[in-house]
Amino acid sequence: DTIRVFAPATVANVVCGFDVLGFAVEAPGDEVIMRLTNKPGITISKITGDDGRLPLNPAKNTVSVSVQHYLNSIGRSDIGFDIELHKKMPIGSGLGSSSASTVAGLFAAKTLLGDESPANKLLPFAMKGEEMACGHGHADNVAPALMGGFVLIRSYEPLDVIRLPHPKELYCAIVFPDVDVPTREARQIIRNSVLLKDAVTQWGNIAGLVSGLYTGDIDLIGRSMKDVLIEPVRAMLIPDFYLMREMAMEAGAVSFGISGSGPSVFAFTRDEQTAHAITQKLQDHLTKIKIGSQAYVSPI
Ligand code: HSE
Repeated sequence: DTIRVFAPATVANVVCGFDVLGFAVEAPGDEVIMRLTNKPGITISKITGDDGRLPLNPAKNTVSVSVQHYLNSIGRSDIGFDIELHKKMPIGSGLGSSSASTVAGLFAAKTLLGDESPANKLLPFAMKGEEMACGHGHADNVAPALMGGFVLIRSYEPLDVIRLPHPKELYCAIVFPDVDVPTREARQIIRNSVLLKDAVTQWGNIAGLVSGLYTGDIDLIGRSMKDVLIEPVRAMLIPDFYLMREMAMEAGAVSFGISGSGPSVFAFTRDEQTAHAITQKLQDHLTKIKIGSQAYVSPI
C-alpha cells in the first residue's frame, strides 16, 4: 500500500491574470511517496532536496496539513499515512513549489484510499496548504498542478475552475535567478486598489489572452501578456527584470513576465530551440552580474 506521485511546477498569473490564471509545465516538480498505515495520524519520515528548510513536524508541513484536512473531510480518522517528500525543484522560486508537494500528497492519499471522486475535489484542501505557506489560499498554482495544462479560476467563491486549451506548439522558457522572494512578502507590497483605467487595460488583456488560447493566435497571446497592476511593483524584486525582458524579446520570445510571485521569469516561444536560446542568454547575463540561476524548458 505504497504509492509514488509526481506533481509539476506551475507558472501562476501568466502575466496579466493575477490569481486567476496558471499552467503546468512537464518538469521540474516534486515527488511524494506515501504509505497507508492503520495507525491513525500522519507522519513524515523523510524530506530530501530541501536543504533542511522544510519541517518534518506534520502539524507544520503544508503537505501533511492539507492531507489531514482531506482525511477529516471524508471522516477517515481510523487510518494514517507515512509521507516521504522528495523536492526536485527550488523552494521560494515562484514556480509553485509548495503546490507541487501538496498536490502530490493529496493525490497520493486519494489514490491510496480508492477515492474515485474527480481530482478537482482536492482543490480546497490544496488551497489550505497555500494559505499556510504564504498567508493566502490562491488556486492558480494548485489548480494547474492538479489538473494539468492551462487553468482559469473564474471565481473563488464559489470555486469555479475551467481548463483552457492552448496552441500545442507553445514552449515555455523559465529562469530562476537565485534571489529570495517569499510569496508572502511579494503579496504584501502590492497595492490594494487599482485605477479604473488600469483595470480596463488589464481585463482587456486577460480576455485577449484567453481568446488567443482558444483560437491559437500566438500574436494575440503575445500582445495580451502585459500586466499594468502587479508587475510594475514586483519587478523591483527581480535583478535586471526589464533588461532580461528586452533580451528575451530580442531572442524571439512571444511574451515575457514574472512567474507567480517571482523571482522566476518565463517566456513563451514558438519552438523549443528559441526557448533554449533564451534561457542561455538570460543565464549568461545573470552569471555576469554574479547571480546564480537555474533554467527549465518545457512544452506547456
Ligand atoms: N497568484 C499568486 C501571486 C501566485 O502572484 O502571489 C504565487 O505563486
